[in-house]
Amino acid sequence: MTAQPSARGDVAVVVPAAGAGLRLGPGAPKALRLLEGEPLLVHAVRRIAAAPSVAMIVIAAPPADVDAVHTLLAEIAPVTVVAGGAERQESVAAALAVVPPELGIVLVHDAARCLTPVSVFERVAATVRDGADAVIPVLPVVDTIKEVDDEETVLGTVDRSALRAVQTPQGFRASVLRAAHAAAADSHTDDAGAVEKLGLPVRCVPGSDLALKITRPIDMAVAAHLLTLPAPPS
Ligand code: CTP
Ligand code: MG
Repeated sequence: MTAQPSARGDVAVVVPAAGAGLRLGPGAPKALRLLEGEPLLVHAVRRIAAAPSVAMIVIAAPPADVDAVHTLLAEIAPVTVVAGGAERQESVAAALAVVPPELGIVLVHDAARCLTPVSVFERVAATVRDGADAVIPVLPVVDTIKEVDDEETVLGTVDRSALRAVQTPQGFRASVLRAAHAAAADSHTDDAGAVEKLGLPVRCVPGSDLALKITRPIDMAVAAHLLTLPAPPS
């Protein structure tokens, strides 16, 4: 199901939203579970649609829920909804396939990072617009990280100053993302990783604490609390 892209921006946002949410426990597909009374996907799309750069939003929905997702989002923003696949990258590929060639920048954004602020979308898009082939929002790693062997014995302590935790939206020159997907033989989980395999540089920009990925039940509780903050951290 399609809706016309808006004319205001140069960015398509591809939203993989077809996952089951197994780590949340039994229930509906994760993107359709409720956070403070609204599906995660509604929270996510409301924020994406508020980003001035965004001309088109493509959702990869659970195949059984394509019509329901289109109806759900009709009041929020014009969206295109396609059936997702069994793996995240299949979902991304299905959504990428309907992005028209005139949109030169594609952001890939997990529905599960549903509280990601507009500022992160704009920062990633602006960095691609400035000439980067691939851009990822990152945070410093706060925990001490150990490398271990098969028996959980520590081999060493990793220097965390050189490590980054990666979020979404990940942004790409559209042609680069298409080439990375075409070349990717394995089922990588990270679109930027496919670009790395092409030998192209991937730039980091600051992410946001609000861009946490809702994965386990505790993340739902954290996200519910974040929604109550009067001026959430960016
Ligand atoms: N995703 C997708 N298609 C899949 C698997 C995942 O579109 N076949 C999406 C999810 O909907 C989510 C994002 O990719 O927005 C990140 O995946 P993850 O957090 O792992 O979500 P789930 O796969 O739904 O969760 P789980 O792994 O716990 O089942
Ligand atoms: Mg998953």
